[in-house]
Amino acid sequence: MVNLFDIRYLRIGTPNLDNAIEFATRIVGLQLVGREGKAAYFRSDKPKVRGDTRDHTLVYFEGDPSDHVAAFDILDRDALDSVAAEIEAAGHPVHWGTSEECELRRVKNFIAFKDPTGNKLEIVVKPFHTGTRYFPTRDAGITEFSHIGLRTANAARDEAFWTRLMNARVSDWIGDAPLLRINTIHHSLALFPSATPGVQHINHQVEDIDDIMRSYYFLKEKGVRIVFGPGRHPSSSACFLYFEGPDKMVYEYSVGVKLITPEMEASYRPRQFPFAPESFCMWGSRPDIPEFRAEAAGGKAAEKPGMAPLRVV
Ligand SMILES: [Fe+2]
Repeated sequence: MVNLFDIRYLRIGTPNLDNAIEFATRIVGLQLVGREGKAAYFRSDKPKVRGDTRDHTLVYFEGDPSDHVAAFDILDRDALDSVAAEIEAAGHPVHWGTSEECELRRVKNFIAFKDPTGNKLEIVVKPFHTGTRYFPTRDAGITEFSHIGLRTANAARDEAFWTRLMNARVSDWIGDAPLLRINTIHHSLALFPSATPGVQHINHQVEDIDDIMRSYYFLKEKGVRIVFGPGRHPSSSACFLYFEGPDKMVYEYSVGVKLITPEMEASYRPRQFPFAPESFCMWGSRPDIPEFRAEAAGGKAAEKPGMAPLRVV
């Protein structure tokens, strides 16, 4: 069992790095902490909220916009050899990071491999922290990079990858999509059925619901496409707002995500929500996000009585 500790960073390709930097800083509100060659590094953690100071949480690099990497760290930093062996034994070839690749990622060591869908994953040890304070470009109220949506070609198979080979636990399901936790946060990743691999959305937590509503009006004024919300997820309890970034990447702000504490672990039972609009939003907002709509999920929900396909608004 690979004991993941937390999500660390994403690396996302883009054909237009300047545009991605502009969006990440002036719209999302991340801090640009470095531009090196063909890559830009961003931070998002407010130390007093998170108690953590990740060196960076997002990298945009010049490249293919479908090239996405998600990285996690592990509980035991001495376990990377055995973790690599376990992942290889499960049928996923492992690449050990070179010193140059480690330098680019600000980590002491890492391994890279793919999940059964083909999502590029990395497990890192001794990722760098920073002593400087997070200083956002705009006052979006961001407190931390918190979770990702990941695409899956087979939700049940990939759920087994994350829950049997890794230590992820299912917090809830929406249709076939599992929301998975690796620590106390209700979900650090969620698997959404899709025809292609990659990151489906990028979540940052904000301080309060005022930040959600301030950003709603801010994004509308800036002409950014809002694709879902404002709303509230019945699964995690979080209030949310989703919007479209460069290369159609979906970004999310949310606040109030449920915690499943160690004391709750033994008695917690995941809940099954149907693949229906009200399972994504209890306020009535409707998603304009393909993976959150019944048609993209193979129309399964629409085939069940009383579950119409989600409408685009
Ligand atoms: Fe999310």
